[in-house]
Amino acid sequence: MEYLKFCFVFSFWIKFSNCVYSTETPQAPAPLPKEKLLVLTVATEETDGFLRFMQSANYFNYTVKVLGMGDAWKGGDVGRSIGGGQKVRLLKEAMEALADQEDLVVLVVDSYDLIFAGGPEEILRKFQQANHKVLFAAEGLIWPDKRLADKYPSVRSGKRYLNSGGIIGYAPYINRIVSQWNLHDNDDDQLFYTKIYVDPLQRQTLNMTLDHKCQIFQNLNGAVDEVLLKFGTDRVRVRNPVYDSLPVVVHGNGNTKMYLNYLANYVPNAWNYEHGCSHCDDDVVDFTQLKDFPNVWVGVFIEQPTPFLPEFFQRLLTLDYPKDKLKLFVHNNEVYHEKHIQKFWEENRNVFKSFKVVGPEENLSQGEARNMGMDLCRKDATCDYYFSIESDVMLTNRQTLKLLIEQNRKIIGPLVTRHGKLWSNFWGALSLDGYYARSEDYVDIVQRKRVGVWNIPYMAHVYLVKGNVLRNEMKERNYFVLEKLDPDMALCRNARELTSHREKDSPSPESFHMLRPPKGIFMYLTNRHDFGRLISTANYNISHYNNDLWQIFENPVDWKEKYIHQNYTRIFTENRMEEPCPDVFWFPVFSEKACDEIVEEMEHYGSWSGGKHEDKRIAGGYETVPTDDIHMKQIGFDKEWLHFIREFISPVTLKVFSGYYTKGYALMNFVVKYTPERQAYLRPHHDSSTFTINIALNNKDTDFQGGGCRFHRYNCSIESPRKGWTFMHPGRLTHLHEGLPTTNGTRYIAVSFIDP
Ligand SMILES: *[C@@H]1O[C@H](CO)[C@@H](O)[C@H](O)[C@H]1NC(C)=O
Ligand SMILES: *[C@@H]1O[C@H](CO)[C@@H](O)[C@H](O)[C@H]1NC(C)=O
Ligand SMILES: *[C@@H]1O[C@H](CO)[C@@H](O)[C@H](O)[C@H]1NC(C)=O
Ligand SMILES: *[C@@H]1O[C@H](CO)[C@@H](O)[C@H](O)[C@H]1NC(C)=O
Ligand SMILES: *[C@@H]1O[C@H](CO)[C@@H](O)[C@H](O)[C@H]1NC(C)=O
Ligand SMILES: *[C@@H]1O[C@H](CO)[C@@H](O)[C@H](O)[C@H]1NC(C)=O
Ligand SMILES: *[C@@H]1O[C@H](CO)[C@@H](O)[C@H](O)[C@H]1NC(C)=O
Repeated sequence: MEYLKFCFVFSFWIKFSNCVYSTETPQAPAPLPKEKLLVLTVATEETDGFLRFMQSANYFNYTVKVLGMGDAWKGGDVGRSIGGGQKVRLLKEAMEALADQEDLVVLVVDSYDLIFAGGPEEILRKFQQANHKVLFAAEGLIWPDKRLADKYPSVRSGKRYLNSGGIIGYAPYINRIVSQWNLHDNDDDQLFYTKIYVDPLQRQTLNMTLDHKCQIFQNLNGAVDEVLLKFGTDRVRVRNPVYDSLPVVVHGNGNTKMYLNYLANYVPNAWNYEHGCSHCDDDVVDFTQLKDFPNVWVGVFIEQPTPFLPEFFQRLLTLDYPKDKLKLFVHNNEVYHEKHIQKFWEENRNVFKSFKVVGPEENLSQGEARNMGMDLCRKDATCDYYFSIESDVMLTNRQTLKLLIEQNRKIIGPLVTRHGKLWSNFWGALSLDGYYARSEDYVDIVQRKRVGVWNIPYMAHVYLVKGNVLRNEMKERNYFVLEKLDPDMALCRNARELTSHREKDSPSPESFHMLRPPKGIFMYLTNRHDFGRLISTANYNISHYNNDLWQIFENPVDWKEKYIHQNYTRIFTENRMEEPCPDVFWFPVFSEKACDEIVEEMEHYGSWSGGKHEDKRIAGGYETVPTDDIHMKQIGFDKEWLHFIREFISPVTLKVFSGYYTKGYALMNFVVKYTPERQAYLRPHHDSSTFTINIALNNKDTDFQGGGCRFHRYNCSIESPRKGWTFMHPGRLTHLHEGLPTTNGTRYIAVSFIDP
């Protein structure tokens, strides 16, 4: 069919007769059936990379024979120095049995850092097209002996040098190559093959060539910029636009493992636009099948003053997980937070199975504290998981811990991001020199346009590690190495200094201790759910009494959650608002906490004006209707207060005074204190405002008796103010009003004269 189509187009140009003639000429050899391809690989351990290799091989139904599994690796540290001879020895032994199978094609590949992007038929077709008996992978960099460069045949275009990570050839020929091996296990395999290849006689008689243009083998070393993802409906491939090829074997040789990890997040079928993630539900832990919940050591790290710390602890407490399965380790480096921890500890020390706090007096470095936390799990044989979390992580998803455990990975973190920013807790890529680089998919992952479980190079702030991994692959204690020599720390710091727009997407300045997986362990980030957010600890001024009140700019979402009344939004969604007197609107705006903290802040400041007519704080120095008050400006809260008015009062104004657009501006913003002992009431007056808000900050009956507000024109009083609710009424003309006497206790209100 394909050929006929081509024929038709062709004939359009050079007449039909030519075309008919052309069907006769090409004598393509009969395609080899896929049963004729055998994949051989050497792997001594089932590393994550090996399992990934097998997954891609199984997906395409390759026949794979693994050599050396369980053997001790003696081949040296491949990639860093020379070595790999053990691979040739094992191959030599295996090939002896296959040497006489003339039409068997053997594909010899590495497996820890390699995946398949296409199937056996395609490889065989391309191999046959290459018309040689043996084909090696090629790369642009020569290794390990640069002196051999001159001996290589020159190539007009394509990659010139041999890479031994991929070899394909007829069994007898492969056998003739590897049977020449008589070296040691730690000798270099690539050098061995290279010497054979650059020998003109051997090259001829063994009919060898290199896959110069990456038809089959794509080595990534030195070629990262050549390779792109190509999304299809079912499958994702890599494409090499330089040679216009779709390589079948993708090899993360040299220091390109991270890049291979990125590609393998998609290739061959891990994720695509149509179906999303295809392996996310493989091997998940089914909680319903467990006898009991796993034991988790939770390490909490408070390394700098952190806003909303009590809320952070509340979220920990409300995680949907049995608390008697959790052991808590808290490292607090801030004297300021000792009161918060003390309170949480007193209320919850018996809730958790164990509760250990290391305070600022221990003078632990961040690295040492992290070592200590991780060690608690490592040394506790009952510890199934270690869950590390920093105090700037607001886990809004109560299922987080369960969801992470379910995912069943050695190391996995939930995606958390700074609200409305591209700032998150992971890096999608490393530049080749090991610094931060933005991956092509970073923004899509942060914004959850691509959802899945992603193999990534770095993460910080919050992650889960399996206990048995800590006791095996990660048994080195000093994982968070310290001081200026710490490569991670130096790396992150350098990266921060290099990235001029760090707000854009690099990790926070506090994340000196990003987790980097030890060699061979894959580290995953899941964004399959909305887990929560990272708060900003920058500009947290702790010189006030209730410092979170000031966080309206820096952490608006958390501010709103803490300080705005639960039912505030119903004003808009359900049109819920009361009008107890004509044009006096009454609605909830502040939470209990907001009211309490504002009152506390004022009492802590303490300089009440005394309700005198002379008032230096205002223009003219004279107040006709003075109250006993403190101005927001006096406690340095005026900018925050005006922002609050614009964010939360202005939208209501627009709703009730339709067509009136408030500037949300106010000079007079203050908290008034009424007590029978000092000032108990306020005589009838107008306000110098277009409209006024008057927020009750405490409760009638419990905190005071009496109080309220009376509007004379309408002979209408509101005698039961509600804590957190505000009145909003016109100020200047129609709404002459008075503050009714407080007869017992102390009543507090917050008042603003808006648009004076
Ligand atoms: C692999 O084999 C299975 C079972 O024969 C088949 O369903 C599947 O389509 C094959 N996969 C590929 C990529 O050919
Ligand atoms: C290599 O082998 C192929 C057949 O597999 C043959 O056509 C070709 O001429 C040989 N090349 C050399 C250089 O011997
Ligand atoms: C805390 O540790 C640092 C670094 O180890 C040291 O320089 C400092 O003197 C220590 N402070 C106290 C109070 O021990
Ligand atoms: C913190 O707040 C206090 C009191 O308002 C103020 O004096 C100080 O300048 C602020 N510090 C910073 C760094 O903004
Ligand atoms: C919000 O409204 C609901 C229903 O009217 C009520 O039960 C709840 O107590 C209100 N929340 C607060 C904080 O007042
Ligand atoms: C105001 O209302 C009260 C009852 O709410 C009533 O007793 C009083 O007579 C009214 N005064 C005027 C001036 O209408
Ligand atoms: C005033 O309030 C206090 C407690 O707040 C209470 O003990 C006392 O009985 C109250 N007095 C009157 C006259 O209601």
